[in-house]
Amino acid sequence: MQGENFLKEHNAKHFWHPMAHPAESLANPPKIVSKGDGVHITDIDGFRAIDGVGGLWNVNLGYSCQPIKDAISAQLDALPYYATFRGTSTDATIELSVKLAEFFAPDGLTRAFFTSGGSDSVEICLRLARQYHKIRGQGDRTKFLALKKGYHGTHTGGASVNGNSNFRRNYEPMLPGVSHIPAPYTYRNPFNESDPATLAQCCLAAMEDEIQFQGADTIAAFIMEPVLGAGGVIPPHESFLPGARALCDKYGILLITDEVITAFGRTGSWTGARHFGVKPDLMATAKAITNGYFPFGAAMISEHVADVFESDKTSKGAVFSGYTYSGHPTGAAAAIACLDETLRLDVASNAGTRGAQMHAGLQAIAERHAVVGDCRGGHGLMNCLELVSDPEAKTPLDKATIAKVHEAVYQAGTLVRVSGNNLIISPPLVISEEETNAVLNAVDSGLAAAL
Ligand SMILES: Cc1ncc(COP(=O)(O)O)c(C=O)c1O
Repeated sequence: MQGENFLKEHNAKHFWHPMAHPAESLANPPKIVSKGDGVHITDIDGFRAIDGVGGLWNVNLGYSCQPIKDAISAQLDALPYYATFRGTSTDATIELSVKLAEFFAPDGLTRAFFTSGGSDSVEICLRLARQYHKIRGQGDRTKFLALKKGYHGTHTGGASVNGNSNFRRNYEPMLPGVSHIPAPYTYRNPFNESDPATLAQCCLAAMEDEIQFQGADTIAAFIMEPVLGAGGVIPPHESFLPGARALCDKYGILLITDEVITAFGRTGSWTGARHFGVKPDLMATAKAITNGYFPFGAAMISEHVADVFESDKTSKGAVFSGYTYSGHPTGAAAAIACLDETLRLDVASNAGTRGAQMHAGLQAIAERHAVVGDCRGGHGLMNCLELVSDPEAKTPLDKATIAKVHEAVYQAGTLVRVSGNNLIISPPLVISEEETNAVLNAVDSGLAAAL
């Protein structure tokens, strides 16, 4: 590896960073992260901080998970790559599919379609949803419903169901036939409603209204994150997902839960669907499936959707989708070891306990700092502070001041994520009580120092 001066000199010059303006990255070069251990990262200057981002909601087990590193290394020795396109399979891929069928059995999901990441998994779910209806002779069902503020990756299908204009504007036009329903976001919503249960009913009523307006028999699926993540950690009221499931059942619409963040324990339950007592028809997963150590994902398919494909006697059931790296044996080996560790460490339960500690601590911080307009969380290790310059008018805090806060929190010992005017906190699920307190202290003192 080249030395420190070389790396700093070339930082952001020869590759463009996702979700960033290239000119801004040139003007303000990104932090160079060089090492990771436990829940910590160390930058190129040797500064060590808690990773309050958890990689990107994916490094649930932290940076020192030796069994996954060993599994990757062993698989590279045995068979570094083989395809799973029609006609070939690999040992690791088969073993992983059995483990996932067991893990997701309580969600009613028994088949996996492997992908290279979250956007791929979303795309596959959208495609399979349309195909499911075509096989059943309901080819008019091509449209999708989604939530404003939802994030579903950046492939064209995913960006089309995405509910944040930042991710859409520069790439429009998007797929036709997608309708967005107001999110159950108590701090800002078109109903001016702050009671979560009432707001959930308003949003469900809007969803039913849209279904009837579009024509139920034209809609393939409704997609949502059980707790909205990148859009600013928006936890719906507990009645919302069950209500959406009931509407989907009533109108023959498939329910896709996008659990690229929430699968494998982040909400304090093993999946977001289970957290809210719902069984989806399809589920998009990725990220923590390999603890972020290998790009990998799985679209999970329910038994009744699988039946429709597997009992089809025409070419309509053939899955003409997939990626060179679908079911990559090294990724599959990483995922097997990751799933074993995830279960052995019972990270869902730690996410619940530490998440409650984090939420209570952030609520106390919100009381002390007027800049915090809204403090969201309460579902495992998904937390957010929404920052405003005027609490009455809820004016989003400006970008430059948020950047100052971000840096001050980092200097106080924790890296958090900025998304719009939100500070998102989503550390590895193996974080300890003491480390959780350190995150809270860094956020508290960072806010005080920057403002
Ligand atoms: C809910 C959700 N869906 C999809 C994606 C896209 O995943 P990827 O970035 O792995 O393509 C993300 C990424 O953050 C996500 O949070």
